[in-house]
Amino acid sequence: MTPSTSHLWWQTGVIYQIYPRSFKDTTGNGVGDLRGIIEKLDYLSDTLGVDAIWLSPFYPSPMADFGYDVADYTDVDPLFGDLATFDELVARAHERNLQLLIDLVPNHTSDRHPWFIESRSTRDSRKRDWYVWADPQPDGSPPNNWLSVFGGSAWEWDEATGQYYLHSFLKEQPDLNWRNPEVKEAMFDVVRFWLERDVDGFRVDVAHYIMKDPQLRDNPLDPERAKSIHRPMGDYDSQFHVRDSGHPDVHDVYREFRQLLDSYNDENPRVSIGEIHIFDWEEWATYYGEDLDELHMPFNFALLNVDWRAEAVRKVVDSLEEALPQGAWPNYVLGNHDEPRLASRYGREEARVAAMLLLTLRGTPTIYYGDEIGMVDVPIPPEQLQDPWGETLPQMGRDPCRTPMQWTGGPNAGFSPAQTGELWLPLADDYQSVNVERELGEPASLLNLTRRLLAYRAAIPALTVGGYEPVDGVPETCYAYLRETDEQRVLVILNFSDREERVRIAGPERGEIALSSHLDRSGGVDLRALSVRGNEGLIIELVPS
Ligand code: GLC
Repeated sequence: MTPSTSHLWWQTGVIYQIYPRSFKDTTGNGVGDLRGIIEKLDYLSDTLGVDAIWLSPFYPSPMADFGYDVADYTDVDPLFGDLATFDELVARAHERNLQLLIDLVPNHTSDRHPWFIESRSTRDSRKRDWYVWADPQPDGSPPNNWLSVFGGSAWEWDEATGQYYLHSFLKEQPDLNWRNPEVKEAMFDVVRFWLERDVDGFRVDVAHYIMKDPQLRDNPLDPERAKSIHRPMGDYDSQFHVRDSGHPDVHDVYREFRQLLDSYNDENPRVSIGEIHIFDWEEWATYYGEDLDELHMPFNFALLNVDWRAEAVRKVVDSLEEALPQGAWPNYVLGNHDEPRLASRYGREEARVAAMLLLTLRGTPTIYYGDEIGMVDVPIPPEQLQDPWGETLPQMGRDPCRTPMQWTGGPNAGFSPAQTGELWLPLADDYQSVNVERELGEPASLLNLTRRLLAYRAAIPALTVGGYEPVDGVPETCYAYLRETDEQRVLVILNFSDREERVRIAGPERGEIALSSHLDRSGGVDLRALSVRGNEGLIIELVPS
């Protein structure tokens, strides 16, 4: 495949996710803010070298779900700043060639959103039908068996108006009724508002949830289902979620949404990435649209749940490559604000191999803030718990992966001004050794590895737009693949074990090591007798024979 100039920024670039509460606090209230992100743009564009940032929600919110309960879609919560600061952030990011994606939360609002307040005020309210209201069953119980992701029934009884309303998440997050055209128009106006403020795209929260069974039929039960799930979420996993989300009508919405985005493509192609927890590739791929006319990419979460074994990881990648519709662009994710940290899931050494994997596969990588320095899950004492999910289902609590970014070994890890009292979540114990400042000074740190990988990736078209070809015949602890264009062939070998392996690659005889994940090796190698150390990844440029 020849590198083509037709590839767009969101295909060749690398996205970095910022959880605004935890990135950088400039006011001293223990919570990160937009000004803090502006201060760190040089870090993102120059020190690290990513191409785009995705901000988790910063909208006015009662913070029942830390911003994923939006009370006003077209403003900034005073905790984070204001619209003028947001505009400055967009402008400063663009000056540095950083694209900015924001989180769109279309499935539900906060129960304090004026739309919901109006909707629940009386049964005749003009906005009653903006949400999903239903009568109780004859015995007074909820309309059907749907469950909330966060535990318990998905229905909340409203005494005043004598009906239940649907909430797929917290009861403070009532689901919007996307079958009402006014809801769609209102949300599309929100999209226009931000596009006109020059954002480059959206990450769409629980994108597949917006359309449900119009008859509100029960989900089928499957008590065995939880056994096949990597991180079972309690009762929620005892059902097949075929009626409460992912109704095929969802595709009409995303087709229209795409047209709206495309109508803003004049200056810069805009992008939409859907948060879609569907692990059946065929169904997952439908969100690209039959003619690639829906979301630009559904997030691919398969690497979040994989066993850290060469064969298992290769299977994820090969099956994705196989399932991708013609012309659809892949993507990979190793962490986000809902998942255990990468370095905790697999280990610190393994995180280095994982960084090489993420940044050398075919497709757009998304890096979660802090993973570039190896931040780990932080145990949260009960009195400091924040995440409501952690209260209903402790094993699902997400506070441990949302702790403050570790910038320095100084007071508050450089996250908050020194004189600050409490941070919204505690710092990791390891912040004096695991932080940006220190790792920049350690030549072989994970941060320096990530920087090298990002710089190399940006310079080598085979890695951004080249084809992917798995390589057979390597030891079972290793995963090897070729990334290639007509002009360039790059071999990646990742050793998932902690022992040294001898690898023999059939075909090419010699190569040049461009990068070892240990950052201590370069130069020519014989590919018929290559030694790869424990937890080492190698990027090797093949020398044409
Ligand atoms: C998504 C978000 C998560 C949030 C949920 C409800 O899964 O990533 O953080 O709690 O949606 O909005």
